[in-house]
Amino acid sequence: MSAKKRVAILISGRGSNMSALIEATKNPDYPAQIVGVISNTPAAPGLAIASRHNLPTAVHQLKSYADKNATDAAITATLKSWQTDIVCLAGFMRILSDEFAHQWHNRLINIHPSLLPRYKGLNTHRRALEAKDKVHGCSVHHVVAELDAGPVILQHEVPVLPDDTEETLEQRVLIAEHQLYPKALVALIEQTGSRP
Ligand code: GRF
Repeated sequence: MSAKKRVAILISGRGSNMSALIEATKNPDYPAQIVGVISNTPAAPGLAIASRHNLPTAVHQLKSYADKNATDAAITATLKSWQTDIVCLAGFMRILSDEFAHQWHNRLINIHPSLLPRYKGLNTHRRALEAKDKVHGCSVHHVVAELDAGPVILQHEVPVLPDDTEETLEQRVLIAEHQLYPKALVALIEQTGSRP
């Protein structure tokens, strides 16, 4: 078997998708290992979870640098120090610079709580309910400079039930996200496995 891909995760909050990825990598046959977690806020609860798993963590806040490009250059420096092959955004609530997206092109993915291209951006569950959609879900996609617009790798559909609220729908989608992200990362590695 070829060497495991070195994956770093970028978070801003609770880190439940990060946890799902960490759990998946505990299977010896899983083709990736987590090499570190970066947050854009020191308050992200996910940082403590990462530390409990003995993973290196780093915080790069916009306010600590001259501008977005300088912040993203610092993130890239940390990622390179971990010899990162693939970057997974998991609830990272800041739009990265175009330069960062170009630099990590094909090696930068995100999980989004909708069936893209529907409902790019925020409040996806509310918008699905308002549109009276019967089916909703989540997507893992490549990150490109335009928000939530990169090619989709995998999606997971969930039903929208007649008595759903934003909260019940979010819960159902989140469970699907936790199943989808580890699978989508494998799919990416299989797609790109032959590339350096
Ligand atoms: C998830 O719903 C993800 O799809 C979105 O932000 C949320 C992050 O949740 N991008 P968590 O931090 O992974 O628990």
